[in-house]
Amino acid sequence: MESNKNYSRRSFLQTSGATLGASLVTLPFANVVKASPAKRRMALVGTGVRGVSMYGRGLLRNYSDYVELVGVCDINPGRLDYAAEFIGADAPKYTDVEKMLADVQPETLIVTSRDDVHHEHIIKGLEYGCNVICEKPMTIDEEKTQAVIDADRKSAGNVIVTFNYRYPPYRAKMKQMIMDGIVGEMEQVEFHWNIAHGHLRNYMQRWHGHKEFGGSLWVHKSTHHFDMINWYLDTDPAQVYAYGSLDFFGANNDYRGNNCRDCQFTAKCPYHWDITQNDHLRRLYTENEHYDGYIRDNCVFRKDIDIYDRHAAVVKYANGVYMNYSLTANSDYPGFWLAFNGTKGRLEVRTHRYPERDFEEILFTPNARYTNEPVRVVRVHHGEGGHWGGDPILTDQLFKNPDKPDPLGQQAGVRDGAMSVLTGVAARKSIETGKPVDIEGLTDLKPMAKRPT
Ligand SMILES: NC(=O)c1ccc[n+]([C@@H]2O[C@H](COP(=O)([O-])OP(=O)(O)OC[C@H]3O[C@@H](n4cnc5c(N)ncnc54)[C@H](O)[C@@H]3O)[C@@H](O)[C@H]2O)c1
Repeated sequence: MESNKNYSRRSFLQTSGATLGASLVTLPFANVVKASPAKRRMALVGTGVRGVSMYGRGLLRNYSDYVELVGVCDINPGRLDYAAEFIGADAPKYTDVEKMLADVQPETLIVTSRDDVHHEHIIKGLEYGCNVICEKPMTIDEEKTQAVIDADRKSAGNVIVTFNYRYPPYRAKMKQMIMDGIVGEMEQVEFHWNIAHGHLRNYMQRWHGHKEFGGSLWVHKSTHHFDMINWYLDTDPAQVYAYGSLDFFGANNDYRGNNCRDCQFTAKCPYHWDITQNDHLRRLYTENEHYDGYIRDNCVFRKDIDIYDRHAAVVKYANGVYMNYSLTANSDYPGFWLAFNGTKGRLEVRTHRYPERDFEEILFTPNARYTNEPVRVVRVHHGEGGHWGGDPILTDQLFKNPDKPDPLGQQAGVRDGAMSVLTGVAARKSIETGKPVDIEGLTDLKPMAKRPT
């Protein structure tokens, strides 16, 4: 049985009831934190930079009329202390997520921990009958994906995977245009994403540089892109063939240091970055390294980096569409080019970040076999806030207006989270085996020509 539960006030209320029911049987009440009944009670696990800003401080600053933060958790006690101070939360602090769930009994668990432990936190939240809001990627491999699918089926709670890349206004506009049938029958997709040097440095310096923690950029980063395509095409991926290699970072360089802060090659390394100049990051990470050994400014040329910095794939979708995809991870062009080709024409966007501008232009080139209409250009301005204005639209939907209609289907659940992760997993397997890899068989989800709603 497949599940793609919707997260609405109705299901939220049902879940709250289920939480109470479960708690009467199994949970200790001694430490239950009292909260205003009018506000939804949320707890957060993973107090890194994402957790403390968008979901921690952002939640209290922008949504405190609707939501109450009733617990914060991280395995690093030093980061947790600073995080609570930064967020401005007086919620109890925990280093064990299960203890937090048992004590504070939140209605919703927000998961912003490291990618490889998302599944543990999602599953624990679901077992406690909570709703779960989880950052992308939902998880990093097929076994963990199946474990989340199984837990979701058993639980009254609902999971939302926060694919903020669905929310920028120009991307929503493209979705609307595709839904209105502008492209006709979809045939081929071209999608080429470039990560700028500074952004890539952030990945290579941290746990993202290791497959076991982030699943490689095929999962950690491309989950966004694969999800966008599943959403735009309204279909599932069926088969992936991919190439990938690590040709620049990791062991490829002829010099490497300990970490950026005390490196002897600062003068010549193009990736040198001094974390000590950033008070927030220093207090969040550097001052708390001694607890868990998490070095935020590791050398991008350390020898044990095992992810890829070049990525190319062909994806065949269950509705017969093909996609050519690339992720260029060592570029000075921080943007992308996406085109949908169909029987009625070609819809495309090519982002321009240099010079920075506050809009994108969507171009539609009609197919001359059908019409002699001219090329159409639709200009859409970015919104205020992170990710081209997508983040605040997403958080409004999560925290302020969960009942708001969702005509573009922007909210994603476990099935969507799984399908995007599995595309990246299949790409990894294809590189390892040199063969195309089917999505079917990685988990018990069956790719469908039209995604279930
Ligand atoms: N959607 C987006 O645009 C976007 C942007 C940035 C980050 N993210 C996602 O947000 C998440 C956090 O990213 P980040 O940059 O803040 O990473 P981070 O490394 O700064 O934070 C992760 C935190 O998780 C904690 N952690 C690790 N294992 C844990 C465990 N077992 N229990 C509790 N806490 C644990 C770490 O101590 C750390 O504080 C990632 O999944 C990332 O993919 C999404």
